[in-house]
Amino acid sequence: MAQGNDTTVTEFILAGFTDHPELQVTLFLIFLVIYVLTLLGNFGMIALIWTDSRFHTPMYLLLSNLSLVDLGYSSSIAPRVLVSLSRESKAISYAGCAAQMYFFAAFATTESFLLAVMAYDRYVAICNPLLYQLIISERSCIWLLAGSYMVGVANATVFTSCTFQLSFCGPNVIDHYVCDVLPLMRLSCTDTHTNEMLLSIFTGSIQLTTMLIILFSYLYVTAAILRIRSSEGRRKAFSTCTSHLTAVAICYGTTCFTYLQPSSTSSLEQDQVISVFYTMVIPMLNPLIYSLRNKEVKDALGRMLERRKFSQHL
Ligand SMILES: *[C@@H]1O[C@H](CO)[C@@H](O)[C@H](O)[C@H]1NC(C)=O
Repeated sequence: MAQGNDTTVTEFILAGFTDHPELQVTLFLIFLVIYVLTLLGNFGMIALIWTDSRFHTPMYLLLSNLSLVDLGYSSSIAPRVLVSLSRESKAISYAGCAAQMYFFAAFATTESFLLAVMAYDRYVAICNPLLYQLIISERSCIWLLAGSYMVGVANATVFTSCTFQLSFCGPNVIDHYVCDVLPLMRLSCTDTHTNEMLLSIFTGSIQLTTMLIILFSYLYVTAAILRIRSSEGRRKAFSTCTSHLTAVAICYGTTCFTYLQPSSTSSLEQDQVISVFYTMVIPMLNPLIYSLRNKEVKDALGRMLERRKFSQHL
C-alpha cells in the first residue's frame, strides 16, 4: 500500500493562516486576549466553586470539571497557535504533532461527555427531585466524571494511534493551524479509506449516544417544567437549566454546522474558521455563560469582591 516511502517525514509545517501574513499580528493579539480571558474565567470558576462551601454539590462539581476540561482544551491549542503566529518557522515535530492531537481529542471528547452528564444531572434534579440525593450521590458523580475522562482518553488513543500508524512520505505541509485528524490523513501516502470509515463509525455512534442523552434529558426537563403550576416555581426550575441549554446549543450548533454541510463544499478555510471558533471561543464562553446566567454564582462573586474590598480597608 505505501509506496515511495524512501523519504520519511520527521516534522510537519502548520501552514494555517499563512495566506494573509499581514493579519498575523492582529490574529496573534486576538487569540492572546481570548486565551487570557479563558484562563482567567475558568481558573476563576474553579476557585469560586472550591472555596465556597455552598457550591460543594454534584452540579457544581460537574461545572468545575467543565472548567478544568476547558482549560486543558484551550491549552492544547492556543499556546501552539500563538507561537506559530509570532515566528517565521511554522514547523512542529512529529511527536509534538501527535501530542497535540492526543490532548486535543481527549479534552474535546471529555467535554461532550461532561455536557451529557450535566444534562442527566438536571434531568434527575427536576424530574425526580425526591430521588436526587440517592441517584446523583457524590459517589456516582465521581464515577460519571471518571467515565467521561476515560472515554476521552480512549478516543484520543484510538484516533492518535490510527493516524500516526499511517506512513507520511510525501508533502508535510498541513494546511491548518493545528495537527488535526483530517488534514493529517490527507497528507498520508497510505490509503486511508478503511481507516476513515472505521473512525467515523466509531465516533459517530458515540456522538449519537451522547446527543440522544442530552436531547432526551432536556425534553423531559422541559416537559416537567411546563407541568409546574406556580409561575415562580417554573421560572426557578427553568433558570437552573438555561445556562446548560445555552452551552449545549453553542457546542452542538457549531458541530452540526460542520457535519451537515456537504463535504464537497466544505473548504479547508471554512473548516479553519469553524474550528477556531470551536476551540478558542467556547472554552472562553462557558464560564461567562454560567456565571452571568446563574444567580448563585453571581451572588458568590459579589460576596467575594466585597470581602476583598473590605479586607483592603482594614
Ligand atoms: C474523538 O476524537 C476525534 C479527533 O479529535 C474527534 O474528531 C471525534 O469527534 C472524537 N469522538 C467523540 C465521540 O467525541
